[in-house]
Order: sequence, then C-alpha cells, then structure tokens
Amino acid sequence: MSRYGALQRRVENIATAGLQRTLRTLDMTDAVTGTLNGGPVTVFCSNDYLGLAHHPDVRAAFQGSGVGASRLISGNRPCHEALEAALENLFDRSVTLFSSGYHANLALMSTAVESTDIVASDALNHASLIDGLRLSRADRRVIKHNTPTAIPDGTKMVVVEGVYSMDGDIIDLPAYVGDHWLTVDEAHSFGVLGPDGKGAAAAMGIEPDFVVGTLGKAIGTYGAFVVGPPELKALLLSQGRSFIFTTGLPEPVVRASIAGLSLATDARREALQANVRRFRFGLKELGIDALGSTHIVPIVLGDRTMKVADSLLRRGHWAAGIRSPTVAPGTERVRFTLSSEHSNDQIDRLLEDLNAVLKETEHGNA
Ligand SMILES: Cc1ncc(COP(=O)(O)O)c(C=O)c1O
Repeated sequence: MSRYGALQRRVENIATAGLQRTLRTLDMTDAVTGTLNGGPVTVFCSNDYLGLAHHPDVRAAFQGSGVGASRLISGNRPCHEALEAALENLFDRSVTLFSSGYHANLALMSTAVESTDIVASDALNHASLIDGLRLSRADRRVIKHNTPTAIPDGTKMVVVEGVYSMDGDIIDLPAYVGDHWLTVDEAHSFGVLGPDGKGAAAAMGIEPDFVVGTLGKAIGTYGAFVVGPPELKALLLSQGRSFIFTTGLPEPVVRASIAGLSLATDARREALQANVRRFRFGLKELGIDALGSTHIVPIVLGDRTMKVADSLLRRGHWAAGIRSPTVAPGTERVRFTLSSEHSNDQIDRLLEDLNAVLKETEHGNA
C-alpha cells in the first residue's frame, strides 16, 4: 500500500459519493467579467457585491508590508487602529478586527459564551458559526430557520445571520430581540443593506448585542470584524484564540479595506438594488421561482442543478451550482449573486439564456 493510501481511499469515497470539490481558475478582466478555462464569462457567483475589489483606489491602496507577528506581539500597526476607528465611528461601538470572518466567528462564538450557557443557533447558520459554537462547548440548540418562537427558555445567546447566503433571505430580526444576547453575522449584508451599509439589523432598526461584518465581500478586500461592548473586545483580545494565535492582517490589506469602506457608498448600494429588481422582476416575468428577496438569488432545481449550471457556463454565465450536503437533498440550487457593476445587458442576456436552458433541461435534452 502506498504511503498515502489512507488518504487516497478517503478521496475516492468522496468522489464516489459525488462530493469531490475542485478549484477553477478565473482571470478577472473587470469587476464582473473574466476568463475561465480559456472562455469568457460574466461572473454571477462573486461576493464582490459593490464591485470594489477592482476599484482603482482600492487596488492602489494595497501598499505596505506584512506585519510579521500577531497583533498582540509586534504586529499591531497604525493602519489596524485606523480601520478599527473607522468602523467604531460607523457603528458607534467597540470593534475588533480579525483576519477573516471565519476567524471572527471562531473567536466570538468560543469566547462570548461558556459551557454552562444555552445558545440557540439558526439551522441555516454558516459553518464558521457552527465550528465556533462547537469550540465553546456551550449547550447548543439548533432552531428552525426563521422561527424565533423556537428560542428555548434560559437562552444566553441567539445566533443568526443578516442575509442567508444559501437562501438569499432576511429573517424577522426584530422578533429575535429579547433578554438573551443577539449575535447577527452580517457577512453578506455589511456594506450592502441598512443606513450607511451597516447591515440587515440596522435596516430593520435594531442594534444586536454583537455584530460580525466581513471585509472580503462587499468591501472587496479581506478580513472581518466584531462589533460589541468594550467588555467583549477586552475578552476577545485576551481569550479569542483565533485573534491571539494568528498573524495580523498585512498592511496592504488593511489600507485597501480603509479605501473600500469609504467607497461603499449609497450610490453603489442603489445600483446593486436596481440590478436586484431587474433580475428578480425578469425571473418573475418568465415564471421562474427564486428564493429570498436580496442580491443573492437561488433557484431550486434539485437533480437538474449541475446540468443547468454547466449549460449556463457554456453560454458564458458563471453561477454557482450548490449541491447537497451544503443544502438539504432535493433542494439543490443554482445561486446567482449580483453586483452593482453588472450591466442591464448582462442581466438580460442571463435571463434569456437561463430561460432557454431551463426549457431544454425540462425535456431532458441538455
Ligand atoms: C455568513 C458567513 N459568515 C462568515 C463567513 C466567513 O467569512 P470569510 O470569508 O471572511 O472568512 C462567510 C463566508 O462565506 C459567511 O457566509
């Protein structure tokens, strides 16, 4: 048996179950188009919702060096402090910067609550929240999606998301406010929704106890942050293992985030919402049902999902085919994400081709 036979067997099992994941390499031309495997594509599966990853000012801000240590050792720079200050100014609360949303959720979930606490977690929460809660060893109760009445008595913290990335929906956030702490992960809504892009909770007029925002999606760069009371920040710095035991974000990334933050304007948010309306209205006109109400537009297709995604790609539209176990079996879907930078023509061509592909695959001849 080869030295790595045990690994190979597991890879084969994954492939046999049809669950193997592989990388594809995309060369971006501008905010929404690029070349994938030699062919031109319009990208409908990026989280660069405001087109800032390609903004010349964001690109120009990538200046400086790596920081060589965790922020608690010698890796804390004026730019980290400046970015935290800009976010604190926006939220008017304490902010702690993290290397990614994954790091932020691991630290927040595993430090805010203790093993004796009950935590209610929405059934569709992101893997990083689930993993963080596992690390907390708290008594975890998974509650049905968008069902605040399911919050158990004695709950210390409820964990939900601002916009759910697989369903493109926003839950009834005000109904989750109570005696317990409320955490809202605004990964897909920060920069996009609410006053000054503060997120879905702010859009609904509530201030959760703890908010997580990411910088790698609408802000176009990389990193994340946690908003909360000063006590939370003190705890995260002293006990948040994914804050303490990791290298600080490189200066170029932080400087680019500062630039991205100042470019996440109402004008861009409005352009995104105009595209959302155009695409969702177009789907309705064609009689195609979509989930949710936001810039994330999933169409549940079950068995046909990968066939439809592949046919769309052959026609130059790249959307994500989402399979089980990421979503429940039978609810596999093609998920489109919109950007403020998509043109009317790009959206209209997608609608036309999607309609054609759905008709073809309906009759099994795609
Ligand atoms: C809801 C949610 N939280 C957290 C993350 C992780 O963020 P990051 O990509 O910055 O690690 C994601 C990323 O997909 C997400 O969808």
